[in-house]
Amino acid sequence: MNGFPTQFCWGVAAAAYQIEGATHDGGRGQSVWDVFCARSGVIWSGHSGDQACDHYHRYPEDIALMKALGVHAYRLSVAWPRVQPTGIGPAEPRGLEFYDRLVDGLLEAGIEPWLTLYHWDMPWELFCRGGWLNRDCADWFAEYAAIVVERLSDRVKKFMTLNEPQVFIGEGHSNGNHAPGLQLPWREVLRVGHHALLAHGRAVQSMRAAARRPIEIGYAPVLLPKVPASDSAEDLEAAREATFAVTERSHWTNSWWLDPVVLGHYPADGLELYAADLPPMLAEDAATIAQPLDFLGINIYTAERVRRAADGGIETVVRSPGQPISAFNWPIVPECVHYGPRFLAERYGLPIAITENGISCRDTVGLDGRVVDGARIDYLQRHLLELERACAAGVDLRAYFHWSILDNFEWAEGYKERFGLVFVDYETQARIPKESFRYYQQVIASNGACLATR
Ligand code: FCB
Repeated sequence: MNGFPTQFCWGVAAAAYQIEGATHDGGRGQSVWDVFCARSGVIWSGHSGDQACDHYHRYPEDIALMKALGVHAYRLSVAWPRVQPTGIGPAEPRGLEFYDRLVDGLLEAGIEPWLTLYHWDMPWELFCRGGWLNRDCADWFAEYAAIVVERLSDRVKKFMTLNEPQVFIGEGHSNGNHAPGLQLPWREVLRVGHHALLAHGRAVQSMRAAARRPIEIGYAPVLLPKVPASDSAEDLEAAREATFAVTERSHWTNSWWLDPVVLGHYPADGLELYAADLPPMLAEDAATIAQPLDFLGINIYTAERVRRAADGGIETVVRSPGQPISAFNWPIVPECVHYGPRFLAERYGLPIAITENGISCRDTVGLDGRVVDGARIDYLQRHLLELERACAAGVDLRAYFHWSILDNFEWAEGYKERFGLVFVDYETQARIPKESFRYYQQVIASNGACLATR
């Protein structure tokens, strides 16, 4: 196997609301998540991100952990309501100063910040103006993105616009499991989705205009790839086809969220299927959405296995009893990071960064003080070996960000799901590197060479 490219970037990821805490500090405004968490019964055990990992105050310790881990890069997100407490108008200096300190600390530690503009924390005041239902959200987001880029692009080179539109639109506006907790009819779900894509495009324009030196811009949707059940050419083709097909009224599709951004149009099968529900679109929207990008960020956690059926159709393979699942009950399908990037590279032709991949486990601290998370080590090893296959197949893969550096606030699941390489004791805020932390350390130090030997 060719292995990972020499310049391959190894990283970890996290997001503002999931780790920062300090939701009332530094002039921060409320976000849809603050308000959603205050509703009873929507978050597991009534948790919220109010304290989270207190990263807002403890970031120097967290940077030191990342340095010890040896990562080259850290994917963080900026909280829009810290920068613009009501979502529009002048920036809050204390908000920008926090990200200045964070970025400077990372650079001093030799860690490159990769910065996501929107990881789901829309300012509450903007939601009150309609949020993503209001087409003006594209301009609000573009203005906010320009403020951040103007301030940080002297030190930050890599930016991503939206994290997982499928999730904040679908879970937030269709089934109501996430903030702002709306359950809109499909027609309106498509409308908010269209506005989010417009916001992406307008932001790319405003970021390029505001940048103080050339920056690289990507996008970070989630990818739910279909992977072939066997090595046969028929199954491979079935998986490729199924990965990009739009066959149902579901936000969990790939091409609906990717084709407009990279190819400049919605996929034909989706347009046909959703014909009666399409939102108002202006003639210029397609061009606005399809701004040139420097890389494609992609979050991949799992996949479904499919095969070519006898009648020529595509069949999903039923998982046999006992196949591995995470604590979150997500099926563990390591080939997701081989075929996913491969199919994306073929269709979109852009360099790829895995912006999230990881597993939640029921981790506990043993009597000896150690957190022995063998399932995470196994997940890392199996997935990174598959990622290496994608590199060997010629996919232009630039980076891998493990989700997450710390256990953190896992949205509707509160603190139940632990995804960190570092265990967080939420009572004391103590950080305890897990065994997987040491494993990932070796992976990074050997540029993946140790994966084959363990
Ligand atoms: C993704 C989110 C991220 C985290 C992981 C587990 O959907 O982008 O914030 O919650 O899942």
